Amino acid sequence: MSDVVNPKKKLYIETVGCQMNLLDSELVVARLRQDGYELTTEVEDADTILFNTCSVRQHAEDKIYSALGRIKGLKARRPEVSIGVLGCMAQKDQKQVLRRAPHVDIVVGPGQLERVPEMLEAARVEGKPQLAVSLARNDGSRDAVTASFAEYDPLRDPEMRPSPFQAFVRIMMGCDKFCTYCIVPSVRGPEQSRPPGVIVEESRRLVDAGVVEITLLGQTVNSYSYREPDGRVTRLSDLLERLHEIDGLRRIRFITNFPNDMTDDLLQAVRDLPRVSRYLHVPAQSGCDEMLKRMKRMYSVALYDDMMARIRETVPDAAVSSDFIVGFCGESEASFERSVRLVERSRFKNSFIFKYSPRTGTKADLLYVDDVPEEVKKRRNNELLAVQNEICREDNLKFVGRTVEVLVEGPSKTSSRRSETSAGDDGLQQLAGRTWCDRIVVFEGRLRHIGRFVPIEIDEVSTVTLYGRLATSEVVHNEAALA
Ligand code: SAH
Ligand code: SF4
Ligand code: F3S
Repeated sequence: MSDVVNPKKKLYIETVGCQMNLLDSELVVARLRQDGYELTTEVEDADTILFNTCSVRQHAEDKIYSALGRIKGLKARRPEVSIGVLGCMAQKDQKQVLRRAPHVDIVVGPGQLERVPEMLEAARVEGKPQLAVSLARNDGSRDAVTASFAEYDPLRDPEMRPSPFQAFVRIMMGCDKFCTYCIVPSVRGPEQSRPPGVIVEESRRLVDAGVVEITLLGQTVNSYSYREPDGRVTRLSDLLERLHEIDGLRRIRFITNFPNDMTDDLLQAVRDLPRVSRYLHVPAQSGCDEMLKRMKRMYSVALYDDMMARIRETVPDAAVSSDFIVGFCGESEASFERSVRLVERSRFKNSFIFKYSPRTGTKADLLYVDDVPEEVKKRRNNELLAVQNEICREDNLKFVGRTVEVLVEGPSKTSSRRSETSAGDDGLQQLAGRTWCDRIVVFEGRLRHIGRFVPIEIDEVSTVTLYGRLATSEVVHNEAALA
């Protein structure tokens, strides 16, 4: 009866930014579902429109402000529709969001997400915009600021998940590294490690609900450290060991790593625990010491090289990926060339390359001049990407003829290499999944393969994808032979 009188409210949500944001959106959606919302993919159908935002680069913010601009007319036509700006941009811009987009009803920072339902309600009842943000990093004692970035994960409901077999589990919140270019420490607050018992319990519940792959999340995930009241300290390597004991958990991944904290105990754990993914994302940001110093990354190129050597020695089958910023303040042609050299000798599986984007409120914006012209940034971005792509192609070619184990994630989003095959006729379609070293594999399979680990024999590659067919031969789990 109540369903007829009170039809389900429709929720549209758009998420940009990192995996932290994907997880936050999942939690917000799960919470609102409990209040009777259902998801819609059509913004025009929605009663509530939410944007979970990112502030890491100007481009990410521009995207959201133009999306907000596009729904101005909708809000004018249907004032009862609620519009919310959540996440990092909400924390960074706060009331400015309302100045730029007065049709927004709620602005909620990443440390206040549990208040979303209450804020939506208050905006409706009071008929005016609501703001819920955390304290700024210098707005109080460390404890007070930390407390204002409330833990959200405890509200997690394993039944309300977007993927039945993959899940993110947050092990850390915030960041204390304060790299000079980066806004994350101000918008995500102080670094906090969640208690290992809580993480293990949350993971166990997810596995009970059908999850086979967990990705542990932290801005610097390998800096994880939790001290019990009795003084015992749990590091990421210890946590991996504990999670490894969960029956039914088939694969454990963790992102993103900080070079200084890539300790031997962690590399040994990756080597010794077969269900830990052979994939290490460890951003270098630059291959030039002078730039690293200006970025306050707290390591030298020599340390990064040494770390790469230790990784190759301890876990020879691991794939390493990196992030680079090109055109940071003062980056000369010679500095940039040093990044090119680092990519060449590190042979990353892939690199995420970004043009420096000045962020108000960061040290770099205060201290240095954004002196590399946009077209130079663009050229360096393309050059570095071309070098990386050549490495990807060469290293991917080594997979041809091999059989790899793939966790099938779903229908392939990229266009198929065999366009003559139409999906559906014979129940076969292009599916995509990932190997143990995080390489994307596309093959022809059936819906029932989704969520399962299958052996795929690789017969063709591109820079980003391995293509293959379901194999009957034995799985090559240890990919060391290919390194
Ligand atoms: N916590 C992660 C990175 C988070 S931000 C880490 O420390 O590795 C993701 C990436 O965005 C960074 O690795 C960096 O390469 C890039 N980035 C951060 N701030 C940036 C800025 N102001 N301009 C351009 N790229 C930036
Ligand atoms: Fe930003 Fe540096 Fe923290 Fe990564 S480690 S989130 S780049 S401040
Ligand atoms: Fe962006 Fe916030 Fe993640 S700024 S990268 S969404 S932590």
